[in-house]
Amino acid sequence: MTSKSLIYGHRGVPVKFPENSLAGFAYAISQHIDGLEFDVHLTKDGVPVIMHDETVDRTTNSHGKIVDYTFQELRQCTLSNGEPVPSLAEFLDLVSGENVHLNLEFKTDRQYYPGIEHKVLRMVQQTDLVYPVVFSSFNLQSLKRSYAIDPTQKYAFLTSAKIGAPEAFAKSEHLEGLHLEHYQPVHHVAERVWTVDDPSEMRQLFDRAVSAVITNDFELAQDVRAAV
Ligand code: G3P
Ligand code: MG
Repeated sequence: MTSKSLIYGHRGVPVKFPENSLAGFAYAISQHIDGLEFDVHLTKDGVPVIMHDETVDRTTNSHGKIVDYTFQELRQCTLSNGEPVPSLAEFLDLVSGENVHLNLEFKTDRQYYPGIEHKVLRMVQQTDLVYPVVFSSFNLQSLKRSYAIDPTQKYAFLTSAKIGAPEAFAKSEHLEGLHLEHYQPVHHVAERVWTVDDPSEMRQLFDRAVSAVITNDFELAQDVRAAV
């Protein structure tokens, strides 16, 4: 029997395309990926953009912090395939109506972007999506703020730590899910495990029927899951 766990592409498909690129997201959708994980920051003029790091240094041809660029300035920074840094608006256009789950990570644990939750939630609310978005963050305050703005969305706390009494924690913080670096048994709360690229670890998680595996190589995960 095939596992029910979903497979999410971590930053899209970084084993084949630049991470967090529209090209990678589009390819993954064309190959029937279950879900996409991606990271959101705000530019100096308050435009939500998709990138993992707080700076553009590692993934573009430029240098500096996203928060110090206006959106128009940031558009001059290109990924290794020549694509400009994607905006959340472009991403939502791409995925609108597509049969794909979304995990939007607020990257607010190192750099705080005032108003990011309100702005992002409003954009998502205005988009025609097939599934509810899961909003995750290492910053619990971002999730609390989001819940206060829109209690109907799904929120998931990201952590590398073992959580004591995970079910009680999730209930008290209004969390639909826990996004864990290390598997631990969790009941009645969605459990999505990151970032899993080892086939034997994937197999174990599929056997345990976790809610989702978040991986850099979704095609490998599809093969492993098909054989479970
Ligand atoms: O959501 C899982 C994973 O993306 C969290 O870590 O640093 O890759 O965003 P990071
Ligand atoms: Mg992330």
